Amino acid sequence: MEMERRKVNTQTLETTARLMVANGKGLLAIDESTGTCNKRFAKWAIPQTAEAHRLYRELIVNTPGLSESISGAILYDETIRQEMDDRTPFATALVARGIIPGIKVDLGAKEMAAFPGEKVTEGLDGLRARLTEYEQMGARFAKWRAVFAIGDGTPSHGCIEANAHALARYAGLCQEAGLVPVVEPEVLMEGDHTLDVCSEVTERVLRTVFRELYSQRVKLEGMILKPNMVLPGLTCLQQESVDQVADATVGCLLRSVPAAVPGVVFLSGGQPGELASVRLNAMNVRYRSRLPWELSFSFGRAIQEPALEIWHGNQAKVIPAQKALYHRAKCDRAAHRGEYNATVEADHEISVQDEVNYLACAGGVR
Ligand code: 13P
Repeated sequence: MEMERRKVNTQTLETTARLMVANGKGLLAIDESTGTCNKRFAKWAIPQTAEAHRLYRELIVNTPGLSESISGAILYDETIRQEMDDRTPFATALVARGIIPGIKVDLGAKEMAAFPGEKVTEGLDGLRARLTEYEQMGARFAKWRAVFAIGDGTPSHGCIEANAHALARYAGLCQEAGLVPVVEPEVLMEGDHTLDVCSEVTERVLRTVFRELYSQRVKLEGMILKPNMVLPGLTCLQQESVDQVADATVGCLLRSVPAAVPGVVFLSGGQPGELASVRLNAMNVRYRSRLPWELSFSFGRAIQEPALEIWHGNQAKVIPAQKALYHRAKCDRAAHRGEYNATVEADHEISVQDEVNYLACAGGVR
């Protein structure tokens, strides 16, 4: 009986994981914690309230045609407990729109004792019960983010080990609960380090993470990896070309990510939306036939930023904001397929069916 249950569970995890990266689609991260969301809202003088967060997330989820490019959306605890205007819970609304609901389950990166300047992500205590609750609310995957800053002597061995262990413990608990873990070890862009240093650090982190995933018996077929792209530090004087970034990133991943993992989805880390699309596209154009996993996206800022700027708290701007969101998601889908170019970027046209949806959403008023 237990064996049978586990087999069904494993099959479901694998099916969900594959669906998350199928048909050129990728994930949309709308899981900013209250503090992060407030920071982004403050930039545009948007009220920093739970209701404003709800209105903004409703705008996103209601974007007509979003599921053409987005397979799954990562929610934050506040949002998964909120409802759309029509009283539908957010997770249910996503499912109705053909999008798989996910949930951020870590409790944030905190200062690590005895490791000045480094962080360890918290949230393992009580996680089993929280995952059960999220699963009952409709979540089918979960996300946990660890961060690594490149600096003088960092990231340290101790910091990488502690975070990799926590990621693996989280991933094991997710699979037990029937949720696909999205394992996110993020090497930050801040600093003047070179592309080579980022590559070396990212490889060291990924190798450690996969060693821990193995020792915690995580099934690689039922998980998704969410890494950073391999980039020169933001203040490094030498900024490599798109093709050089693509080569460094894919090379690093090929050396450290097992072929059994169905999908690798990048975080944007604050890269401008177009640049993130260009870089993802180059990786798929140059390497598609040699990749053992789908190479896709799980962007937050790179998809949302134009929409947030247009909306900036004004409900009269919902439709143009949704169009901007739809457009960035469409560009990223093209990049996953290796079909992104200047024509796709310039094409802000929407299909006839979407036009109908927009009108319906707007109650016939444009
Ligand atoms: P960004 O794409 O804005 O980095 O967000 C992705 C994410 O989910 C970070 O945890």
